[in-house]
This record gives sequence, structure tokens and C-alpha cells, in this order.
Amino acid sequence: MSASFSDLIILLSSGINQRRLYFDSHPKVKSLGRDFAEKLERRLRESNETAFFFGVLSGKFIRDGRFLVGPSIAGRSLIEFAERLGCGGFLFQQHVTADEVMAFFRLAAGLRERTGSLDASMAMLQAEGIRLIELTPHFRQADPNRPMDQLDFSTVDPSLIQFDFTEDDEDGEGGMGRSIQNDLAPLLPIFQSMYETVASNHTVVGRDGELDLARTQSVSEQLQVKADRETMDIMNLMRYPDYDSYTIGHSVRVSTLALTVGREMGWPEHRLGELATAGLLHDLGKAKIPDEILYKPGKLDAQERQIAESHAEIGARLLLGRPDVSPLVLAGAWGHHIRYDGGGYPKMPPWAVHSPIASLIQICDVFEALTAARPYKNPMPPRRAFEIILKDRAAFHPNAVMALVRAVGLYPPGSEVVISDGSRGYVTARGTKWDSPLVRITRDRKGRRLERDDQFLIDLADNRKLEVADFVSVNIDPDGKPVAGAPDDDTEGESRSVDELLSDARI
Ligand SMILES: [Fe+2]
Ligand SMILES: [Fe+2]
Repeated sequence: MSASFSDLIILLSSGINQRRLYFDSHPKVKSLGRDFAEKLERRLRESNETAFFFGVLSGKFIRDGRFLVGPSIAGRSLIEFAERLGCGGFLFQQHVTADEVMAFFRLAAGLRERTGSLDASMAMLQAEGIRLIELTPHFRQADPNRPMDQLDFSTVDPSLIQFDFTEDDEDGEGGMGRSIQNDLAPLLPIFQSMYETVASNHTVVGRDGELDLARTQSVSEQLQVKADRETMDIMNLMRYPDYDSYTIGHSVRVSTLALTVGREMGWPEHRLGELATAGLLHDLGKAKIPDEILYKPGKLDAQERQIAESHAEIGARLLLGRPDVSPLVLAGAWGHHIRYDGGGYPKMPPWAVHSPIASLIQICDVFEALTAARPYKNPMPPRRAFEIILKDRAAFHPNAVMALVRAVGLYPPGSEVVISDGSRGYVTARGTKWDSPLVRITRDRKGRRLERDDQFLIDLADNRKLEVADFVSVNIDPDGKPVAGAPDDDTEGESRSVDELLSDARI
């Protein structure tokens, strides 16, 4: 199967990120350049096209006149590059070479300022020997009197906003209702700035610089104002571009989860911003852990494990030096790997008291790691993650567990489910009861596909006879394909404990 739009964006974005960390001929940079050139070539050959084009407008990708939300988060570095170049998009011609793609990575990784003009940018590409990657001018604006930089994403028609996975939705069944797309518009800029804030915190701290706490707090407060029960559904649909971004995407999701669960537990509104900040900063110490350990595939040896686990203490130390850090945020960073029964790490001194915020971040951290898609594992459906969490009850604060279940629901929108009468469909909303979602039925009891017009909605909360009998998929991967080499979640969930499952997740 040829690469999807998201796959290509992720390769480009990862290439730029890796080039920031390494030199040109580093194997990671080289293999991403080669991989992109090969996948692009195959895609163009299979689709009988001669070039691959995508636009950038107001911080988002546009393709075929539609904003693409998922890739816009994933491809942040590519969007920044387009903005500095002053272009409205990139055109990759057939036969572009791996060397040209690597030169593209190099330029993107190094360009810190705007170039001044599109002509200057084009000349820069040419000087680097890039011939088959072209820059295109800006899109024409809908309202010519309105300056480009004032074009507000929230004013865009929501029907233009598209999740990346619907691009490949060939059978027309679709996974998502419109409602989420409508909810997304005001949140997208916030997610984007959360993502940027965590990324820059990690970079700054990694280089022994000063942490921008005010920015972290301000974005957390924005989230607190805008986030509601549906926010987690949106978070569930977002993907992470590459290994480096897992820590970042993970912290953004933990932060949003912590806020949502905290609200569900009745935390006072003025504390919720701090909860979100604690989520964004909980893994700050990872900025000091070597990549070789953080991203090592497979098991860590005892010494590596000790280093990886030191991130909690390192994070707390980094925050301790700041008078403007709240004790809650500090407790979250220090204690988010301590189990409710006192196990985990760092070791609790006998006089220490279990902090409620640490318990909250801890369960959100575990749940995020279980349900996230990573290169080495498929996303686990929430219901299965809850089963695993409940098997190891002693590890978690009971109130936090219940609040998490209520906040997330067992069946998030986008999940494909089997109903107890044998029909199948997609969850369109979580509904009023956490185990009884609203489902759009797309296949009848005999498994026959229903035409779009014949599909119908069932509110399981209203229907006592019917319930969800099984989960088919969590519609997170845009292609609906399993992650290569990832273990089967079902068998994994049956036999392993939370600690075992997470021992290599480096959360
Ligand atoms: Fe952690
Ligand atoms: Fe974490």
C-alpha cells in the first residue's frame, strides 16, 4: 500500500527534527531522507501523478481545499519552515532524490529567521542543490481586504476541517460525526501551543536554559477555559509524528486528561490550571535523560532503568529552583510514578504524605501510555486499559480511577463497536451514560453493509435491551492498519500486569 499523506508529512517532520539533533550523515537522518524519497516515488507511481503538493495556511496544512488537522499537529516543524520561507506550500516533484530531501531537512533545521521574500527562499533551495522541491506562493485569501496573518482559524467553515484518517476512508462508512469537527476549531490553536510549549521547555532545559514557566501556565489556563468533556475525544484522535514527539504528545495528553479528570473529581476551578501545568511539566526531567535510553527499543538493563527512572527526581529538582512553581506542580513531577500502595519510584521517605495531584497524574500517565499509539504498539481501547488498571487496583487512588472512567467513557467517539444484537457501527458520541454511547449503525445483524441513507443512530442509554458487546477498533490510525510488529493488545492485556506492561514504555 502506498504511503498516506500523514505518513509523508510525518517522515518530513521527523527528518527535520532529527536533523536538529544530529548531523547530515547520521543514520537516522539518512534513513528518513531515503524513506521519504522512496515512499513518495511509489505513491506517485501508483497514483499516476507527477508531483505531490500540499499547502500551508494559518499554521495548518491544506490539501484539496481542506484543512488537515491531525497532520498539522504532527508536522509542526514543517509548517514553521513554510512560514519562515514565506511560501504557501511545497511541491515535491517525481524523482526527487534522498540527497535533495536531506538538504531540505538541513535547511529546515537551520533556518531560524524569515528569509524576507519567496524569491530569496527559492534561491536558497537552489543553492543547496534542491531542484525537485518547489515552493509555491500563498493561497488566495477569501477576503482580499483581510491581512493573511489575521485569518482566524475559528472562522473557517467547520466542514473544511478534516481529520487525517478520513482521507483514506474508502468504503464510505466513516468513523466520525461532524460534532467533533465543530468542537475542534477553538481547541486546535491551544493544542498547538501546548505542543510547542512542551517541545520548547524540553529543548531549553536540555541545554541548561531557563524554563518559560509563564508561557506554560498561560497555555494551561487557556485549556482550562476552553476544555470540556468532549476535549478528550479530540485528543484521542491525534497522532504523534515521531519518537521525539512521544514525550511531547504524551505530556499534552496527560495534561488534558488530568484537567478533565480533576474537574470530574470536583477539584476547584482555580486549581485546574495548575493541574494542566503539572501534566505539561510532569516529565520535564526526561529532557536530561539520554535519547539512547529514552528511545531504546526493547528492555533496559538495570543501570539504564535507574537512569530512566531518575527523570522524576530530576524534573522535581529543575522545578524546585523556581520560586514561581506551585507545590502541586512540583509534587506532580516528583511523585507521578509512586503507586497508591507506596511502591514505584522515587522511594517515599516514611514521613512523606501521598499527594493527591501525584495520584491524579499517575493514573492519567498510565492510561495515556496504554491507550496511545506508538511505533512498537497499537493503541489499546480504553475499556481494555481500564480492565488492566482495575486488575492492579492497589496501584491507584480509587477515586481517581472512577473519575477517569467517567471522564473518558468506555467507548470514545470514533470507536467501531459490535452491538449485542450482532449489528455493528461507530460511536458518534459518548452519550449520557459512560457505558452506553450513541452509535451509528453501519452493518445490520447479518453483517451486511447499510447504505449511507439507511444507517441510523441508536442511543444505547435509551435502549435497555441493547449494549456494546465488543470493541472492533479505536479509530486512531489514519489507515486503520495495525502498527507493524506491535503485539496483539488482547493477549497482552490478559496476562500482564500494569507494571509489566509499562516497564518499557518509559512514561
Ligand atoms: Fe514519567
Ligand atoms: Fe509521563
